[in-house]
Amino acid sequence: MDTEKLGIKVIPRHVAIIMDGNGRWAKLHDRPRIFGHQKGVERAKEASEFALEVGIEVLSLYAFSTENWARPREEVEFLMSLLEDYLQRELPNMLNKGIRLHPIGRIHELPRATREKVEETARATSKNDRLILNLALNYGGHAELVDAFRVLAHRVAEGELQPQEIDEALVEGCLYTRGQPPPDLLIRTSGEYRISNFLLWQTAYTEFYFTPVLWPDFDRGEFLKALLDYQKRERRFGGV
Ligand code: IPE
Ligand code: IPE
Ligand code: MG
Repeated sequence: MDTEKLGIKVIPRHVAIIMDGNGRWAKLHDRPRIFGHQKGVERAKEASEFALEVGIEVLSLYAFSTENWARPREEVEFLMSLLEDYLQRELPNMLNKGIRLHPIGRIHELPRATREKVEETARATSKNDRLILNLALNYGGHAELVDAFRVLAHRVAEGELQPQEIDEALVEGCLYTRGQPPPDLLIRTSGEYRISNFLLWQTAYTEFYFTPVLWPDFDRGEFLKALLDYQKRERRFGGV
């Protein structure tokens, strides 16, 4: 894609998105919440294809948080089956385009059929290298850090590691996103100004972009707006 034509001069390596507002979008259209989730899935596909075309290396999409289990059982079940169908349907396209599905979160706690579909898709796409799609499922920033600390504590208990040897690189190496660049840009739709437990460690120096647009309306044009806004930012990383 001719990114220059679009006005893109700086391409972030890693973009993270909190895809929020499906329920409100459905309400606005007098439809049940699940209708918003269906539309939202199509936007997730659009966002990943746009990211790939623009040359973004990693796209992290927040699809289901550790807190989302608090929703009505029917909604949770619908989201899980929506995800399974989507992965089933999208596999050929991911293989064709070079998209690697990399699930992040406590995948082992997902319902069995969902977990199997997620793991199968991750395996099938593991050699793809044009875009890493971090799909956050049963993901929580706190849970991710707890998991990392448990691994480190275990290594200390085994005598492999001294507590004073624990540094930032070792913690980073235990995250679900190990080896990836941290997000340069985090987008949140639907007008909420919060992080909702997403990528807490990784977003230390991320630029934030908040938009009132509801996720089912977040199209390529909206994604482009976020990228154009991002490139105006001056990132200092604590320097001058
Ligand atoms: C985001 O939309 C999708 C998920 C969290 C799964 P919501 O379902 O949170 O929609 P709103 O925020 O209620 O409008
Ligand atoms: C954040 O949205 C999680 C996902 C987009 C998956 P929520 O709708 O769950 O967040 P809160 O409850 O508004 O903070
Ligand atoms: Mg929400």
